[in-house]
Amino acid sequence: MKALGQFPFSRLRRLRTQPWLREMVAEVRLHPSDLIYPMFVQEAAGRTPIASLPGISRVGMDALIEDAKRAESLGIPAIALFPVVDASLKSDDAREALNPDNLVCRAVKLLKKEVPNIGVICDVALDPYTSHGHDGIVVNGDVANDETVEVLMQQALVLAQAGADVVAPSDMMDGRVGAIREALDEEGFEQVSILAYAAKYASAFYGPFREAVGSKSNLGKSGKHTYQMDARNSTEALREIALDIAEGADMVMVKPGMPYLDIVRAASDAVDVPVLAYQVSGEYAMIHAAAEKGWLDADAAMMEALLAFKRAGARAILTYAALDIAEKLRGQ
Ligand code: PBG
Repeated sequence: MKALGQFPFSRLRRLRTQPWLREMVAEVRLHPSDLIYPMFVQEAAGRTPIASLPGISRVGMDALIEDAKRAESLGIPAIALFPVVDASLKSDDAREALNPDNLVCRAVKLLKKEVPNIGVICDVALDPYTSHGHDGIVVNGDVANDETVEVLMQQALVLAQAGADVVAPSDMMDGRVGAIREALDEEGFEQVSILAYAAKYASAFYGPFREAVGSKSNLGKSGKHTYQMDARNSTEALREIALDIAEGADMVMVKPGMPYLDIVRAASDAVDVPVLAYQVSGEYAMIHAAAEKGWLDADAAMMEALLAFKRAGARAILTYAALDIAEKLRGQ
């Protein structure tokens, strides 16, 4: 008989020998219900491919309904909508954001009629609507916090009136969650929930998204560093998250995802509301660009990246790969 402690007494490879065994002892799993599908909505019918997001298109109302039905049938619980607003409708004060008949409101109304059982999440931020590409109202060269919050409250109301189930402020203004919660409750929308982009970093990984919604050239060289978080900070992220929860956020999000998994882990350990993560456009683009060069297996790399979010404690993941991965998880 081998003495205790004799090498190798512990053989961790034992539980890795068979696929069924690996399956049985897996600590986390990825399921279609973990995935939220972000979609870009355009005015024109059909699909317009987005070069920097291989496999993803801007969709007209027809394709939006088609894809939402597909998402629902795959078990994806919700989609997140981003409008691609015509340049002629963009202005300094983002007034189109408050038009109850704007593109995203029409999309929400149609979705609620045609695909009533999928959750609809709408971004609250002004960047699709501003001629300068910033998330808020610019005064003296910077986004003015309190003026912007006034507009965001109204934008959230317009979205709730259209039928949005969840409003997701992604603007990083101070105090906006509380203001939006109050405005929603006053108007009888106490069932509309708030998913706060609580720890949202000023990131280079948003490039393809800005191209998709057409805010990139408008934004030009100016960044969002006066409102989005500094990549060097993590304590501050927990502060942002705590504040948003205190102001009434039902769920909080960390964004981007993979470069900020430490924040996802810290947040899920620290708070008792669901913590979501956003695998942003640049993360998706990196994997697909490498795959196009033959340097990576896109499906395997994507699956591994999404599992990392689960391991870090994310309750759900916004990912452009949602349809693809849900299909693979279902073996279709
Ligand atoms: C808008 C918004 C952005 C993203 C989601 N909402 C861009 C930004 O803040 O500039 C990025 C998502 C992505 O890159 O996939 N406030």
